[in-house]
Amino acid sequence: MLKFLFVAPLIAILTVLVTGLRIKIQDSVDFVYDEFQLSNLPNEGKRLIQTSPSTSEWMTEEQVLGLIRKNIKFMDVTDYRSLGTRYKAFKKHGRFQFPLSTAFEDEVMPFIYKLSTEHMQKNLEKFTSFRNRYYRSKYGEESSQWLYEQVANIVKAANYSDPILSVKQFSHKWGQKSIIARFRGSDDSKSNEVVIIGAHQDSINMWMPSFGRAPGADDDGSGTVTILEAFRVLAEGQFKPSRPVEFHWYSAEEGGLLGSQAIASHYEEVEIDVIAMLQNDMTGFVGKKYPEAFGIVVDYVDSDLTSFIKKLIKSYAKIPARDTKCGYACSDHASWIKAGYPSAFAIEGAFEDSNPYIHTSNDIIDHLSFEHMLEFSKLSVSFAVELSHV
Ligand code: BES
Ligand code: ZN
Repeated sequence: MLKFLFVAPLIAILTVLVTGLRIKIQDSVDFVYDEFQLSNLPNEGKRLIQTSPSTSEWMTEEQVLGLIRKNIKFMDVTDYRSLGTRYKAFKKHGRFQFPLSTAFEDEVMPFIYKLSTEHMQKNLEKFTSFRNRYYRSKYGEESSQWLYEQVANIVKAANYSDPILSVKQFSHKWGQKSIIARFRGSDDSKSNEVVIIGAHQDSINMWMPSFGRAPGADDDGSGTVTILEAFRVLAEGQFKPSRPVEFHWYSAEEGGLLGSQAIASHYEEVEIDVIAMLQNDMTGFVGKKYPEAFGIVVDYVDSDLTSFIKKLIKSYAKIPARDTKCGYACSDHASWIKAGYPSAFAIEGAFEDSNPYIHTSNDIIDHLSFEHMLEFSKLSVSFAVELSHV
């Protein structure tokens, strides 16, 4: 009895302390948007997660984080369950025929000569200095705003006499916005045939997403600055495509391809045709298993477009291509494939030779090669020019 009298208040004090501490930790670490969580309460707050074209399951946030930690690829399809059901129905003309060879060397080469690692390095240093770029943290919002300003500065500096170049932010239910820059095409008969070059801007620390350090230098800071450099030389060189060419920096890839699904769903809904999409996710690490090469993903991509990508590499890059696989829903190209549009995916090398530090505080610039990234910028420039005119 005496023992109980002593232990009970102790337990009560401990309980109060622990609860208080938990509330305090939550208060200080959570930049999570409650509105987002509360307004998405199908199945008691769970998310509908697809891990293969035929497997989906309702999962808690903790279970979803478990997938990332175990390196299991997934798409969070909770809000995009109709993706891929409409476009296929409206498209009446046949598949786009990709050319069998490259044909615009005279236009591509001057842009390629203008590419440099200098801007990429400076941009990546700043981009990795945000604590993380998690799509639901305030840092992710700030990094997105900074990136938007860089793209907007390039648009302004290009100063086209006919304003064919523009940029806008694409808002989501969470704080971090996607970014879309667009060169209007000059051929009116092709104004609905868009060419897209993409990368994802968010990063994640898989142990502590909201407040853990996640420089995301390779994943996917590298792809972000790779396509920004391609965009810079095209804009500064007054690129005038025949078809519209867009550069996309997606929010929330690490949350289950959320940003790209939102945009692909919108394009599908308003019946925009996308003739080709190229994803750049991780372009900076050179592994030791094989000689330096582009990793060209051959699963869950469009095989004709992928064959054309290999031709671009042969014509315009210094290093060869190596086929590799990345699995279902590995990156944002998967959202476009699911919507019914042809997409392709270039990565830094063979998947099994890729950067082992991703999703941790150690995904830093020191492990990366800017010369390697530059090869991917060449690919993006040639992709934009060739496919916009052909
Ligand atoms: N950048 C990775 C995908 C990747 C990994 C590309 C290794 C090249 C080499 C991407 O950001 C990622 O983390 N994808 C997740 C799935 C995503 C839906 C959370 C994955 O691969 O597990
Ligand atoms: Zn990742």
